[in-house]
Amino acid sequence: MCGIVGYIGNKQALPILLQGLRDLEYRGYDSAGVAVLDNGKITRYREVGKVDMLAKKIGTKSMPGNIGIAHTRWATHGGVTEFNAHPHLVGQNPPVGKGVLSVVHNGIIENYRELKKKLKDQNFESETDTEILAKWIYERYDGNLAKAVREALLDVRGTYGLVVMHADHPHQLIAARLGSPLVIGISDGEYYIASDVTPMLPYTKQVTFLDDGEVASINGDGLKIVNLRDEIVSKPVTQIDWDQERAQKAGFEHFMLKEIFDQPTVFEDAVRGRLNMAEGTAVLGGLNMSPEQMREVKRIIIIAEGTARHAGLVAKYAFERLANLPTEVDFSSEFRYRDPIVDKHTLVFVISQSGETADTLMAAREAKRKGAVVRGIVNVIGSTIARETKAGTYIHAGPELAVASTKAYTNMIAVLLLYALQFGRLKHTSLATGQRLLQALLEIPEKMNVVLKQNDSIKKVAGRYKDYHDILFIGRGVNYPVALEGALKSEEITYLHAEGLAGGSLKHGPLALVSKDVPVVAILPKDQLYEKMKSSIAEVRARGARTLVIATAGDDEAKEIADDIIYVPDTMELLEPLLYTIPLQLFAYHMAVALGRDVDRPRNLAKSVTVE
Ligand code: AGP
Repeated sequence: MCGIVGYIGNKQALPILLQGLRDLEYRGYDSAGVAVLDNGKITRYREVGKVDMLAKKIGTKSMPGNIGIAHTRWATHGGVTEFNAHPHLVGQNPPVGKGVLSVVHNGIIENYRELKKKLKDQNFESETDTEILAKWIYERYDGNLAKAVREALLDVRGTYGLVVMHADHPHQLIAARLGSPLVIGISDGEYYIASDVTPMLPYTKQVTFLDDGEVASINGDGLKIVNLRDEIVSKPVTQIDWDQERAQKAGFEHFMLKEIFDQPTVFEDAVRGRLNMAEGTAVLGGLNMSPEQMREVKRIIIIAEGTARHAGLVAKYAFERLANLPTEVDFSSEFRYRDPIVDKHTLVFVISQSGETADTLMAAREAKRKGAVVRGIVNVIGSTIARETKAGTYIHAGPELAVASTKAYTNMIAVLLLYALQFGRLKHTSLATGQRLLQALLEIPEKMNVVLKQNDSIKKVAGRYKDYHDILFIGRGVNYPVALEGALKSEEITYLHAEGLAGGSLKHGPLALVSKDVPVVAILPKDQLYEKMKSSIAEVRARGARTLVIATAGDDEAKEIADDIIYVPDTMELLEPLLYTIPLQLFAYHMAVALGRDVDRPRNLAKSVTVE
């Protein structure tokens, strides 16, 4: 996720900006840059790679000045290059032209193509939406920087956390927020701006959080915040009592919990600009296939490991139901050593959060070698799998730092559901079904929040299960992969033995495991398999198992077959994993915390398994 730092005050800006970028490194990035204004001239340096490489590039070059902006970029629009790195600079260097305007930006400008066409200046340095925005602001500048920014933002669709600096205004920074956080730190006539409080904590704990639609004009002598209609907005100053480590987790105790709570926001990033409600389909360019080529696909293979594979298993139900496409899901580590039957009509999706998993990378190469069409579903921009599959789709989950994958999983499912719909709408899926599914997707973030609000009660439930040594998770249909994912979450951070099972498989063997010492977590949505799942629950309760039931809100019957129950909002069957997995993430998390585990860095595991 990108990071922003801005400073205006009586100190030299450069060291404050560079240290601020280092404090934001935990957010993940692939390039960095800094711009400082002094004596009517903006000096800027940018570098691909780490902040230390940027600092090395600046070296002993002079960058005097007590006002500046800086940025760490997590590539979204445009590759990982110096020219795409921020800060962007537009306009002519003084004294020619209107001076130079510089911008750093987090977020996605959805209508950047529309704006780009209308710009007078058609010379572009980068491939980014941010440069378009910078030029859009520059063309509206007539001496009043705050007004130019406000007017420009009225034309923008998308999200932004933005800081603007202009060579004509050595005592002013403009900051604006819509959907991407920005915080202003205040200290004796000095002002710090950043994506979160971390960079400002060494200097001040007095902060003001910008809200969506607000524009802050920060001058050496004061701070003025307005809305886009230029109406003054009064804002409280908050005293932050976090240390730096806690700040990086936005106040959460662990990255894993922060990332679980990130899911509604990053889910919106995964679907933003990818829904075509009028046609009831998805708009995913990553396939690089024409509708005719898509119709020639005869089968799909999904290869991945761990949580990514569980997302693939959910997608299997969607591809088969919506697109009537036979879909096989396999472990990467198995696929690459068997004799898979693939040909030019086989579409292989390779799913990976890190984009560096060795088994998945080698399996992708094997599939390509055998002539399949291979596409990546990846989180980390520019990662090896993303580059080698040449085409595919980024899931836009932002950096996932906890070893246990959570927000990447729900975003993988989001993207895969959109692909299944895109294929389905070329075949038998009706417009009405497509529109109903898209509407249901749009409702997911709010429904995720309904589940997340139960965090405290789920913590209490987890406390009742943490002392067992074995836990079974059972689900059916599209929620069988949810049982697998719930078991994986539990085992990898609590170190307890957990197993995910298809509900119907119990009586074929695993039922022998069940006793009063082995509790069962059952996923029981009110869908077509409801009665079947109730039978599975009855089987385990008859053997004395304690049962935690994850049920659909309003299902009072479920209480009769549950020792503990967690309710989840209703949604379309294919979307159920997006909601029913969240209680299991929180359940595992709170058990692990209660057991004193190293939740973000569990023993024996790595975030990215780059070895076989
Ligand atoms: C999931 O919580 C684990 N961290 C692990 O199973 C992970 O999903 C797997 O290693 C695949 O990683 P990838 O998505 O980066 O390829």
